[in-house]
Amino acid sequence: MGLSINTTITLSNTVTIEQLGFGTYKLTDPNELKCAVDAAIHAGYRAFDTAELYNNEKQLGQVLAQCGVKRNDLFITSKIANEKQGYENTLKGFEQTLNDLQLDYIDLFLVHWPLHDTFFETWEAFERIYEEKRARAIGVCNFQISHLEMLATRANIKPMINQIELHPYLTQEVLVNYLREQDIAIEAWSPLARNKVLHEPLLIKMGEKYHKSAAQITLRWQLQHGHIAIPKSGHPDRIAANADIFDFALTASEMAQIDGLNKNERVGPNPDDVYRNNGFL
Ligand SMILES: NC(=O)c1ccc[n+]([C@@H]2O[C@H](COP(=O)([O-])OP(=O)(O)OC[C@H]3O[C@@H](n4cnc5c(N)ncnc54)[C@H](OP(=O)(O)O)[C@@H]3O)[C@@H](O)[C@H]2O)c1
Repeated sequence: MGLSINTTITLSNTVTIEQLGFGTYKLTDPNELKCAVDAAIHAGYRAFDTAELYNNEKQLGQVLAQCGVKRNDLFITSKIANEKQGYENTLKGFEQTLNDLQLDYIDLFLVHWPLHDTFFETWEAFERIYEEKRARAIGVCNFQISHLEMLATRANIKPMINQIELHPYLTQEVLVNYLREQDIAIEAWSPLARNKVLHEPLLIKMGEKYHKSAAQITLRWQLQHGHIAIPKSGHPDRIAANADIFDFALTASEMAQIDGLNKNERVGPNPDDVYRNNGFL
């Protein structure tokens, strides 16, 4: 399969996003963040994922402004925090995010979690941001089929991406099939299940065949499925290794064996609980 670090996925509005991106959750220390982003740029990553919740937008904005890559060659994603949802709050939160990131437009803006109280109002603000061309694409995170169907009853614009927890222990087959039917791109968060998959004997054994780690096998599996994946690491050697997955290909049988590891096990919250409790867990 001819994948490379430059491979992109085309969203329903024709905007393209690199299939392998870099996650920045937990990277709050400015030195660690700079070192990680520099390593990521050096390894060829161009898409960066942050959120208001991650408390690093200012630092990330500064590092990306100085990283030596032109703005329009970067793909920058952020998300509205739960406590900033609602129509006016989302518009304000978006301005803050743009300011903090030192940007005049964002590539992708996402609703971080579905929330009961502000569900439609938040999306209305997203549509305005998109129509004003301040975000090249808009989408959601952690939306179940029920949330997407509910959104469709009032939305004028369909989300272009759903960023969801997805890894070999949580393959989300039903949701993935639905998103494909709906032409909503699938972005995998915690693609390594926050380290958990690295100890999986099947992945370690498969890695021996290709001289790759369990992490590299897992990321390759994500990309061969057509998902966007955004692994996070604070270690330059791991950042480079996570992008060194383009010189081998898993067979159909190996892909199926990894699919078979699914046990519907989450490392993060269940979106239905977050929705019901309006963001309070
Ligand atoms: N939308 C949402 O609700 C949501 C939720 C969670 C995450 N996200 C996004 O998704 C990104 C990725 O998810 P995540 O950070 O939760 O988990 P992840 O990428 O699955 O795993 C990150 C963990 O794996 C370790 N790691 C990474 N590469 C490794 C390697 N090659 N070998 C060994 N260990 C390795 C990292 O440690 P070191 O850093 O010490 O290397 C870190 O502890 C986040 O950063 C964030 O941008 C979105």
